[in-house]
Amino acid sequence: MSRKLFIAGNWKMNTSQAGSVDLAKALVEAIGSVDKVDMAVCPPAVYLSSVADALSGSNIALGGQNVFYQDNGAFTGELSTAMLKDVGCKYVIIGHSERRHVIGESDELINRKVVKSLADGMSVILCVGELLEQRQADQTSEVVTRQIKIGLESVHAADMASITIAYEPVWAIGTGVTASPAQAQEVHAMIRNLLAEMYDESVADATIIQYGGSVKPSNAAELLGQSDIDGALVGGAALKAEDFAGIVQAGM
Ligand code: PGA
Repeated sequence: MSRKLFIAGNWKMNTSQAGSVDLAKALVEAIGSVDKVDMAVCPPAVYLSSVADALSGSNIALGGQNVFYQDNGAFTGELSTAMLKDVGCKYVIIGHSERRHVIGESDELINRKVVKSLADGMSVILCVGELLEQRQADQTSEVVTRQIKIGLESVHAADMASITIAYEPVWAIGTGVTASPAQAQEVHAMIRNLLAEMYDESVADATIIQYGGSVKPSNAAELLGQSDIDGALVGGAALKAEDFAGIVQAGM
């Protein structure tokens, strides 16, 4: 089955009001009409509205970097799915390694966010990936399997069309060290087999599995050329329009 590539930019805690709009406008100019590849950007929450305006009419979708699992109320600092949708988000990143390992989110919390986002009609980018010491101890498959099994608990096959899995080995994020295409492909294939076990072959075949971790224009084509790599979640290189555009073009 042929899966449409999906390239998403995670701007993390970067840019400014003016800088986020400039970046979005430059992306629209460079790749706004691309339709061979699905595209999204995930700016900081405070800039979502202005980036939404800048992206309007283009093929670049908007996503949040995080969400909470309640509708509203006394949850200081949190954002609901309704708020994200209200400002134009289609996607939300859940379980990014920085939220797992810097902020301390558990698989169970991540699962609640996934279930809530799906129930409210959002598309989820669920991030998974092992730490360096886990890879060195040969625990990659065990760690990623646990993150996916708990992260997708009580998610039904019918909802899997709204799930993208992003495999991001933590040791490759923001470090300039990329997993080799073969290393990434091996884990992607393992994830697809796991999805076949948890659901069925057709869900496994249809699910988009992105790679993330120091993706840049110079390594994108080789990574995206692997049979089970269906896109990229891009951090650092998403902050420069020409680099993000170069990655999108590498997928075309
Ligand atoms: P990076 O980040 O491209 O800067 O390594 C990827 C990510 O954290 O999603």
